[in-house]
Amino acid sequence: MLSVRAMALGYRSIVAVRGIDLDVGAGELVAVIGANGAGKTTSLKGIAGALPVRAGSIVLDGEDITRLPVHERVRRGLSLVPEGRGIFARLTVAENLDMGAYLRRDAAGVLADLDRSYTLFPRLGERRRQLAGTLSGGEQQMLAIARALMGRPRLLLLDEPSMGLAPLVTQRIFDTIRSIAAERVSILLVEQNARAALELAARAYVLEGGCITLAGAAGELLSSDAVRRAYLGE
Ligand SMILES: Nc1ncnc2c1ncn2[C@@H]1O[C@H](COP(=O)(O)OP(=O)(O)OP(=O)(O)O)[C@@H](O)[C@H]1O
Ligand SMILES: [Mg+2]
Repeated sequence: MLSVRAMALGYRSIVAVRGIDLDVGAGELVAVIGANGAGKTTSLKGIAGALPVRAGSIVLDGEDITRLPVHERVRRGLSLVPEGRGIFARLTVAENLDMGAYLRRDAAGVLADLDRSYTLFPRLGERRRQLAGTLSGGEQQMLAIARALMGRPRLLLLDEPSMGLAPLVTQRIFDTIRSIAAERVSILLVEQNARAALELAARAYVLEGGCITLAGAAGELLSSDAVRRAYLGE
């Protein structure tokens, strides 16, 4: 579904990502783990089109999307839930969810998906008229994911969905990610919480200093000495 080849990008004089290769198969849940500053967010920005790549290519379902603007990628089924969530604080929960469907023309389908959001996240249903800026951190994360799903993505890019959340809320978010994946939405999950990400994903990549240093089945990485020492605190 997604093939990234030799992708390099950065900020002015900084090269943050140095030619990475990465694949996500149809319906596959793939994790990227790495320390602060490793280039995880930058990689997702490149794939989503929020930051231009300097070298390499991004292919989605056989189509080269390397130079397409963000909205053209969204139209093709690619959706990013950014670090820090990016919800509209002054809009209500329901209005935020509507924004997520802005490219869609099937009103009935949008309504059905709105119901589905509230089934997936009952808390959002209870708070549909509440301003998003007044939601708790966990609720805002739920809203960000639900809003992305309103665009009916085929590939969801999630940047640190557990950031700043209590363990129980994190568990709830991860359960939801699992159920989204079960509906055949491909997921590329970036996480600091390496153990949880590796337990959730089928495959994973380790990013260090802008390079992929390890890749493989998530279960194998979980039991690898290098990963255990560097990322699982053992
Ligand atoms: N807007 C920016 N301008 C300049 N440098 C940046 C910018 N954003 C990120 N960087 C640098 O690029 C490198 C990679 O940053 P990135 O945000 O991709 O890391 P990350 O792996 O997502 O880290 P974290 O786990 O802390 O979110 C870092 O060295 C960072 O300082
Ligand atoms: Mg980041």
